[in-house]
Amino acid sequence: MEKLAIHGGTPVRKEKIYYGRQWIGDDDVQAVASVLKGDLITCGPSVEALEKKLCEVTGAKYAVAVCNGTAALHCACIAAGLGEGDEVITTPLTFAASANCAVYVGATPVFADVNPKTYNIDPASIEAHITPKTKAVVAVDFTGQAVEHDRIREICDKHGLKLIIDAAHAIGTKYKGKPEGSIGDMTCFSFHPVKTVTAGEGGAITTNDPELYRRLRLASQHGIVRHPEEFVEKNPEGIWYYEMQELGYNYRMTDFQAALLISQLNKLDMFSKRRKEIVNAYNEAFKDMEEIIVQEEIPESDTTRHLYIIRLNLDKLSCTRAEFFQAMSAENIQPQVHYVPVYWFPFYEKMGYKRGLCPVAEDIYKGIMSIPLYPMMNDQDVADTIAAVKKIAAYYHKD
Ligand SMILES: Cc1ncc(COP(=O)(O)O)c(C=O)c1O
Repeated sequence: MEKLAIHGGTPVRKEKIYYGRQWIGDDDVQAVASVLKGDLITCGPSVEALEKKLCEVTGAKYAVAVCNGTAALHCACIAAGLGEGDEVITTPLTFAASANCAVYVGATPVFADVNPKTYNIDPASIEAHITPKTKAVVAVDFTGQAVEHDRIREICDKHGLKLIIDAAHAIGTKYKGKPEGSIGDMTCFSFHPVKTVTAGEGGAITTNDPELYRRLRLASQHGIVRHPEEFVEKNPEGIWYYEMQELGYNYRMTDFQAALLISQLNKLDMFSKRRKEIVNAYNEAFKDMEEIIVQEEIPESDTTRHLYIIRLNLDKLSCTRAEFFQAMSAENIQPQVHYVPVYWFPFYEKMGYKRGLCPVAEDIYKGIMSIPLYPMMNDQDVADTIAAVKKIAAYYHKD
């Protein structure tokens, strides 16, 4: 039995690698620098060019770039007309923002359980949680895998619900050949540095609906319109006039971030390809291990995976998840856990949510951790990660 690094053995590698990291090339640096040296570093032409590019990549008719994925979700809830007394169904196995966006507008998040194999929101559980107050579903493409769009769409249509897709993890993913971004009523993206493409911080909402697009622009830009044909005032005093029509926010993205994101999107296919190669290598390495459960995918999803999650089969291990996690860290492979069920947090506990609401999600949470997955990983990094998982699993194996 190989001695674990946590017990004084030699780690599988000398330098630590982390669960995710950005790829910034000279092309990205040049794209940013050229905007910084120009006249307009915000409210300039790069944001418009980015929105056009996002439409090309996602197949959506409209895109609104914003300052982060959380702002994108907030704008989507505003545009959907959600407010006090409304209920919004989402998953607990996500970053808090997927539920917080409902709270921002005074609505109530309701948590549906997840599929035990794919970890994505379970359409049957969505349906079971619908009440007369339900107005929308925020379905998260968890780890990058597309949700069961057809079934969720059917449920939303049957009950008159808006479908907001939280695709923070899923740029580049396709469902039945259609890219994420063109399927839900609105789709929200995040461009945080651990995501597949980055703007430093950034987000966007895509939609095919011109009215939702209009509302998304208002929500993200102070509720202000600038084109005379949209004015309520029919005889403005001069060309300086613009009009605030609703209460909105300043959620603008800067032009240098937009330029960075355009440059990153030019590499999306390359990033997707490498992520898929690494996912395949991990799946192959772990598929016959008793101690590890591999996340399954629906056949309709052609996934650009953001996260690779290993789920420990704790019946076959004599350690806890925390001990396995610390052992990985000592081997210089730094995992992370995605995510603590959202309603377990004190904020939600204080609102009255109780543990036990979503037993499948809670059970999955107990055994999961995300291991390194990013396109800059070389084959040795991938081999080291696999070696660390196998070494620790063998050490703690229990029959
Ligand atoms: C599923 C999900 N939704 C929303 C967000 C929020 O995105 P941002 O960090 O860009 O605000 C994240 C970010 O981690 C996320 O993972």
